[in-house]
Amino acid sequence: MQENEILVKEQLNEVVMKFVIYKPLVARAARAGQFVILRGRDGGERVPVTLVDWDEKAGTITVIIQSIGKSTFMFNSLKQGDCFLNILGPLGTAVEMKNYGTVAVIGGGVGIAEVYPIAKALKAIGNKVISILGARTKSLLILEEQMRAVSDETICCTDDGSYGQKGMVTDALKACVNSGEKIAAGFVIGPIPMMKFTSKLMVELGIEPYASLNPIMLDGTGMCGGCRVSVEGKVRFACVDGPMFPARTIDFDELIRRTGEYKLQEKTAVEKFEKDHQCKLGLH
Ligand SMILES: Cc1cc2nc3c(=O)[nH]c(=O)nc-3n(C[C@H](O)[C@H](O)[C@H](O)COP(=O)(O)OP(=O)(O)OC[C@H]3O[C@@H](n4cnc5c(N)ncnc54)[C@H](O)[C@@H]3O)c2cc1C
Ligand code: FES
Repeated sequence: MQENEILVKEQLNEVVMKFVIYKPLVARAARAGQFVILRGRDGGERVPVTLVDWDEKAGTITVIIQSIGKSTFMFNSLKQGDCFLNILGPLGTAVEMKNYGTVAVIGGGVGIAEVYPIAKALKAIGNKVISILGARTKSLLILEEQMRAVSDETICCTDDGSYGQKGMVTDALKACVNSGEKIAAGFVIGPIPMMKFTSKLMVELGIEPYASLNPIMLDGTGMCGGCRVSVEGKVRFACVDGPMFPARTIDFDELIRRTGEYKLQEKTAVEKFEKDHQCKLGLH
């Protein structure tokens, strides 16, 4: 067994892989809400991914990666026994753990994996945890069993109604509050528009909202300014001040604009990667 080695690789659905990696120093220091920066090869991109789970005794960390572009396609093609080139972390500020009473933990798509350690830690200190999991369709809804194990109640929603309730996480949250639940705080991770509208709804429902932001990150240590976000009208760096922030005053529209700035380059990189990959496989 060597540092950064993939000990277990598991496919969770057509685009999402789970990796258990040998990384004892990170496993020893990890806290809920933190992340690592991965590189697959020399000259490769630096990719932030959430620490989903860790086992200090075994010296392992678990990350869950959705194939979305060139780097994540490459990572998800690694095999058991392969090694990541570097793993930097744990990075970011851990989520402050408090006993709120009842909390809502809301994950959308691969955001379910990112919110899992927060649900687990909030439950461990005695909160009543209501988890609301959302996905476009049944096959994209991940970690239901694991979320149920760390929640008092788990509600699954799919946009197309193929599993659980038909509709969005906001509908489920509203129904929960209307049924009499007194929720003090809510933690949401998922696509930016989902986090924007869920945070807005939480404010309307009297729930203190928190959202984990995913701007483009480079160094992950507060030096490059790439991950700049606006919270309470102030500039904050998501890699050191976050990624979880109180969500009442996050400028989500600025975040959407900034994460979309490199769409053209990202598209070109994927097209080149697919072409090279197919050539290597002798497909054309
Ligand atoms: C704190 C944090 C935690 C994250 N946790 C997870 C996780 O647990 N699992 C997971 O699958 N994804 C996670 N992400 C998102 C992941 O970092 C991006 O999907 C990945 O960087 C995309 O790289 P790519 O080359 O495959 O795609 P690209 O085609 O390069 O980009 C696709 C989209 O990913 C985002 N992105 C691109 N580069 C970066 C970068 N360097 N930093 C941040 N976002 C980027 C942009 O929105 C971009 O439009 C997290 C992001 C942050 C900031
Ligand atoms: S990633 Fe460079 S300052 Fe945050």
